[in-house]
Amino acid sequence: MKRPFAYIAGTGHAVPKRAVTNADIAAMGVETNDEWIIERTGIRQRYVAGEGESLTSLSADAARQAMARAGVQPGEIDTIILGTASPDHLLPSTAVEVQTALGCTRAAAFDLAAACSGWLYSTIVGESLIASGSADTVLVIGAEKLSAIVDWTDRNTCILFGDGAGATVLRRTPQRGGTKGILSTYMRSDGALAELLWRPAGGGAKPFTPESYADRSHYIHMAGREVFKHAVRSMAESTDRALDAARLTAADIDLLIPHQANVRIIEATAKHAGISMDKVFVNVDRFGNTSAASVPIALNDAIAQGRVREGSTVLFAAFGAGFTWGSAVVRF
Ligand SMILES: CC(C)(COP(=O)(O)OP(=O)(O)OC[C@H]1O[C@@H](n2cnc3c(N)ncnc32)[C@H](O)[C@@H]1OP(=O)(O)O)[C@@H](O)C(=O)NCCC(=O)NCCS
Repeated sequence: MKRPFAYIAGTGHAVPKRAVTNADIAAMGVETNDEWIIERTGIRQRYVAGEGESLTSLSADAARQAMARAGVQPGEIDTIILGTASPDHLLPSTAVEVQTALGCTRAAAFDLAAACSGWLYSTIVGESLIASGSADTVLVIGAEKLSAIVDWTDRNTCILFGDGAGATVLRRTPQRGGTKGILSTYMRSDGALAELLWRPAGGGAKPFTPESYADRSHYIHMAGREVFKHAVRSMAESTDRALDAARLTAADIDLLIPHQANVRIIEATAKHAGISMDKVFVNVDRFGNTSAASVPIALNDAIAQGRVREGSTVLFAAFGAGFTWGSAVVRF
């Protein structure tokens, strides 16, 4: 059997109602300013969940759009995979809450923890379920409510992240030998680097205690400069590997959709891959870094803007805490 086994049949995204600008963050008393944030990251605003907006509700809203566009009924979904680092509850998974919200009565559902690579990892697992014959239709979601786990007094992190959800429906390719679908994938990890970007407390190793609240160790901690270096290296490796595996070159790619962490990381990735910035999708300015949601939100945005059409060949690349990284080439 040869690829493609699966194709992306529909996409959707959802963000909270409230947009928070850089000036809004400075007004909260964080020692930062609009000019610094734009120059160092390219971010102008991000969305932050309010009352009644949960990871489940954002995920379900994005998924309903993706399912409608794919022409798929809730009962047709075999599996729901939700990439996230900020689930609504530590037990059970948010994926099962989404399953109930959508009425996907037949579906198996689970969360996948790969931080910002969450949607790419989930897509690769979903494709594998289809290739093995275990599923025909898989709902893949990347979603985050990072505002709940970010320290809003830490200027190193709180300026970067945003909330949102992106969803895609993967379906079995209708005929053998087609060219539409997932052409190649690549994923890697390196846990030796885990403490460069992590939540030290709140899990089984160091449960929530009065001390963890006092030293704020239940929030995201990040060594920004180190993360930046590894991000550039891993994203470069990712684009190379997915192109090699698809037996394509940069010239064959219509659009690069990278993880939206920082416009400088995106520019370095594009330069390494030999792809000019007019063929790179950037919306980090409007959404910030939405971690697992960033790539599927960018994909849905790119489709809405007409930058991904029938026949487009798209290179995806992501990098995140863990560290995890990965990539895929998909023809639409
Ligand atoms: C976080 C990041 C934007 C910081 O940018 P940077 O250019 O590395 O900046 P530095 O950390 O070296 O800090 C430079 C200066 O700006 C200051 N600074 C840091 N954050 C600031 C903020 N929000 N506002 C204003 N000044 C800030 C620092 O204190 C430092 O000041 P100093 O020179 O007086 O010591 C950048 O390192 C980055 O994007 N890293 C990757 C993060 C990421 O993508 N994480 C998610 C991975 S999926």
